[in-house]
Amino acid sequence: MSTMKAVICTRYGGPEVLQLADVPKPEAKKDEILVKINATAVNSGDVRVRGLAVEGIMKVVMRLVLGISKPRKPILGTVFSGIVESTGRDVANFKPGDEVFGMTGFQFGTYAEYITVKAKGNVLSKPSNASFEEAAALPFGGQTAIYFLEKAKLAEKVAPEILVYGATGSVGTAAVQLARHLGARVTAVCSSQGMDLATRLGAHRVVTYDTEDMSQSMPTFDVVFDAVGKAHKPSYKRLLKAGGLYLSVAGLDYASENIAQLELLKELFEHHGYDATIDRTYPMTEIVAAHRYVDSGRKKGNVILTI
Ligand SMILES: NC(=O)c1ccc[n+]([C@@H]2O[C@H](COP(=O)([O-])OP(=O)(O)OC[C@H]3O[C@@H](n4cnc5c(N)ncnc54)[C@H](OP(=O)(O)O)[C@@H]3O)[C@@H](O)[C@H]2O)c1
Repeated sequence: MSTMKAVICTRYGGPEVLQLADVPKPEAKKDEILVKINATAVNSGDVRVRGLAVEGIMKVVMRLVLGISKPRKPILGTVFSGIVESTGRDVANFKPGDEVFGMTGFQFGTYAEYITVKAKGNVLSKPSNASFEEAAALPFGGQTAIYFLEKAKLAEKVAPEILVYGATGSVGTAAVQLARHLGARVTAVCSSQGMDLATRLGAHRVVTYDTEDMSQSMPTFDVVFDAVGKAHKPSYKRLLKAGGLYLSVAGLDYASENIAQLELLKELFEHHGYDATIDRTYPMTEIVAAHRYVDSGRKKGNVILTI
């Protein structure tokens, strides 16, 4: 049996529960492709699963869903970019050598040298102008932002006003760019450390929560999107125009992935100057340091793990 290197989560806990190990190399079933992974990302969702970082009854729910004492699927990671190594006999849309990117979501498994995914699943040929690192940075925040902002139907409104709270995280950086692309006027809320980034990503106005008095001189908005789950909801709901929409990543609404979202991200990256916003890049051997940094909750955009 051939093996591959992967990072496994030995139990729920701090970053040190992650260990490099030799595990069986997967083989593509008839409707799957085998991808040799070049890059993945360490996302907020990964560190949440590793640390079982949820409150109250959700801890029980998470153990039931993911595994009682440790994740049932020990290889974490949900996004990948890489090269198709082989294809199952029924696969017609990919061939060996194709450069691809995608997201596995609750299937996890991307902190590894190889992964098998359904050829008709959430995987697409990589943007032609993207590095593997950039391609791995696109799906997590991008697909989440698209999922939530679709509810706001920004494209159907004339010059809508949107406030993106937490504009410098993986979801926030994607939301600012997406909203701009959809014709919105974007007010970004972030710390003063994120001011330059939010401006560079296209925010029309940046409000810094650590140095500005948030109750002063705020206009009203068609949409308020809490992209980091830390906004004081009553205060921000007050900023909505009549009939405005409040969206948040913090509730029980979980983003789901589809291929149209990936296609949109690819289009934005290839033709509309979309920025993958990579903060730091770590080699796979430094997985503990990468998780420690993402645990800080302060990363700007995305943290990449090269395989
Ligand atoms: N519901 C869903 O389907 C779904 C999907 C994906 C993610 N999520 C959740 O969405 C949240 C964000 O995910 P993410 O991956 O974007 O996180 P992330 O990248 O780890 O967010 C980090 C960013 O948040 C900023 N931040 C920290 N505290 C803040 C505060 N009090 N106010 C405003 N900004 C603050 C940080 O900048 P500063 O420290 O400089 O402020 C940093 O840039 C996570 O809780 C995640 O679990 C939910």
